[in-house]
Amino acid sequence: MTTPFRLFVLTGLLAMLMLPAFSQQRNDSAMYAFVNRLIGQMTLDEKIGQLNLLTSDMAVTGPTMRKAYLDDIKAGRCGGIFNAFGPDYVRKLQEIAVDSTRLHIPLLFGFDVIHGHKTIFPIPLGMACSWDTTGIAHAARIAATEAAADGLNWVFSPMVDLARDPRWGRVAEGAGEDPYLGSLIARAYVKGYQGHNLADSTTVMACVKHYALYGAVEAGREYNIVDMSRRRMFEDYLPPYKAAIDAGVGSVMSAFNEINGIPATANHWLLTDLLRRQWHFQGFVVTDYDAIPELINHGIAADTAEASKWAFEAGAEMDMQGLAYIHHLKTLVENGQISEDAIDQAVRDILIAKYRLGLFQDPYNRINEARARREIMSPDKLQFAREMARESIVLLKNAHQLLPLKKSGTIAVIGPLADDQRDMIGCWSGAGDWHQAVSILQGIREAAGNQARILYARGANITDDTSLLRQLNAFGGDIQLAKESPQQLIRQAVAVARKADVVVMCLGESQGMSGEAASRADIHIPENQRELLKAVYATGKPIVLVLSNGRPLVLKWESEHIPAILETWFLGTEAGHAIADVLFGDYNPSGKLTMSFPYAVGQIPVYYNHKNTGRPGNPDVKWTSKYLDIPNDPLYPFGYGLSYAHFTYGPLQLDKEVLMPGDQLHVRVTLTNDGDRDGTEIVQLYIRDRVADVTQPVKVLKGFQRVFLKKGESKTLEFTLSADDLRIYDRHMHYRYEPGVFDVFVGGNSRDVQQASFTLK
Ligand code: NOJ
Repeated sequence: MTTPFRLFVLTGLLAMLMLPAFSQQRNDSAMYAFVNRLIGQMTLDEKIGQLNLLTSDMAVTGPTMRKAYLDDIKAGRCGGIFNAFGPDYVRKLQEIAVDSTRLHIPLLFGFDVIHGHKTIFPIPLGMACSWDTTGIAHAARIAATEAAADGLNWVFSPMVDLARDPRWGRVAEGAGEDPYLGSLIARAYVKGYQGHNLADSTTVMACVKHYALYGAVEAGREYNIVDMSRRRMFEDYLPPYKAAIDAGVGSVMSAFNEINGIPATANHWLLTDLLRRQWHFQGFVVTDYDAIPELINHGIAADTAEASKWAFEAGAEMDMQGLAYIHHLKTLVENGQISEDAIDQAVRDILIAKYRLGLFQDPYNRINEARARREIMSPDKLQFAREMARESIVLLKNAHQLLPLKKSGTIAVIGPLADDQRDMIGCWSGAGDWHQAVSILQGIREAAGNQARILYARGANITDDTSLLRQLNAFGGDIQLAKESPQQLIRQAVAVARKADVVVMCLGESQGMSGEAASRADIHIPENQRELLKAVYATGKPIVLVLSNGRPLVLKWESEHIPAILETWFLGTEAGHAIADVLFGDYNPSGKLTMSFPYAVGQIPVYYNHKNTGRPGNPDVKWTSKYLDIPNDPLYPFGYGLSYAHFTYGPLQLDKEVLMPGDQLHVRVTLTNDGDRDGTEIVQLYIRDRVADVTQPVKVLKGFQRVFLKKGESKTLEFTLSADDLRIYDRHMHYRYEPGVFDVFVGGNSRDVQQASFTLK
């Protein structure tokens, strides 16, 4: 008889249900006893050592470097290392910590595993466009398995900074502009990385970042300030962080930006009042790279000692690469400015993380050469990366059903991103090996086999802007200019296009044009590539524009002239295969934008859940909220994306006109695939609170379903709403619902919807 069964027989169902809680408590008290005993043995220096996180010299992810980090490990002057991976290297460093330090405390090993470790998935903004939270969780699970086998136990992900400004390069790392979807995705990543049990050797501890509001940096300029009302924080920007915390994330990274005058890293309200007292976060807080010394540049500290005091008092427990705590905390304790109890609490949080990760039982529990060889980039993982890549593609335009292409005739593949492996894995693909990535040209050639003739011309460099090139190449851009002049490249491309039945233009950004420190003021396709596109367009050949990029772009000319446009982001290791699958119709695209594509840069920020104003925009009425030269609406709205199938929405049916608190409202809609192929539609439900205590957005996403329908098939979908879904922050910042009339909208994007209304009593 197995133990659980015996327990079941002995104590009955009730005890069975309570067992996890009891054993959890027992485990927790054993853990606290262990950790407190350990703290009791530690000197102040050893304690402060645990609060120090240092980069190795294996990868560069910030401006400073500490050459002597091996000595620091040996001397017990650090609690974790980041930017070190690979079983051999991690084992070597862990051995130094475990064998050479007095108390043998193992290290944390952190790394920026942002969209996969070795098997690279689409950039997070791309994966978000799949709206497939199960798939995203599985991608995170795969990333964790690979990262753990490679020796890591901590990943600096998920990045959940809600963003409405595509000039900011880091929109590539997040889920887009919506708090509801962003929260579900945040949760999916955390669950995927951390699994059910952090001590399991295939899991890693997640780190939600950048807490908080980093996505709202002024003018989209990297590291800039954030100034925001509390209302906007709670309504829009904070929910994804909260979702990660509710999902049990083990650590939080404080952001670089200030918030209303107080930098996040020294912000007591943020790191303690909100995070600990209101949200009951149980893990530990690490700063971003060098963020404590940067408090001097922010102008709230005169020197690093003062910066350390501000940051520590605010609630930043581990200093990433700032060497501030290691140099100053001891003096601050000795002269009574910081209490040793407070140091103990920070150390406790970090040791608990190590305990939960199982490191005290076996410091080498993840490092496993055989598993690394077996797990990393195994065929099943690559297959799943291809599936996520296909799901992430968004079909923006498909006039006259130019797509899918037939595998016949002559296809010209043109553009600097066509025969390009380097860029396919995108920004923040730390341990990813771009040599293993499938280029678009390769994917098309493999898919077409000998059924179609494939011609190729480069046509242009990524950019001819020498200053931009210098900056990109200084940080691993690997961009080589063609031997030919820009004019020769265009001439060759035009000649190739003339020989073809259809042209696939592979244009966009290089990977270094998004991600950290990659803001752009002009978010068009680079000018020289647009000249190429116009020259090929002048041949009159049908063009499919395949875009690779890390942010929403301004595509006005392209959308007016080019018949078919595919947004493919940076799709990762399997990019070329996934793009070919969609181009030839072996996969029917289903992705929907999670960030609006602006009509012009001057519209930014432009987002679907905006307020109405007192004079809603009307192009025919002078005194309304609008531009004279462009529409108010984005070019491609949130939630937008086409399919090769065609979906028709029937009218909305509500099962009641009046919703009582405590009751449920069922919203039904019949979706029909009346196209000529099977496909998946992402059906979205939005609401609007017509009259409320404080002004409300014109639409707010409250639900969605990914629905697969065979051609000709119809299905009635049901969404459920309750009063809790209708809560708002009132003028006293109480989160509550109030009676009144609500509109409900259902559709395939945030603009094209069916509408009905009901009353909440
Ligand atoms: C700075 C970045 O802002 C953060 O996202 C990253 O995790 C750290 N550097 C570590 O590389």
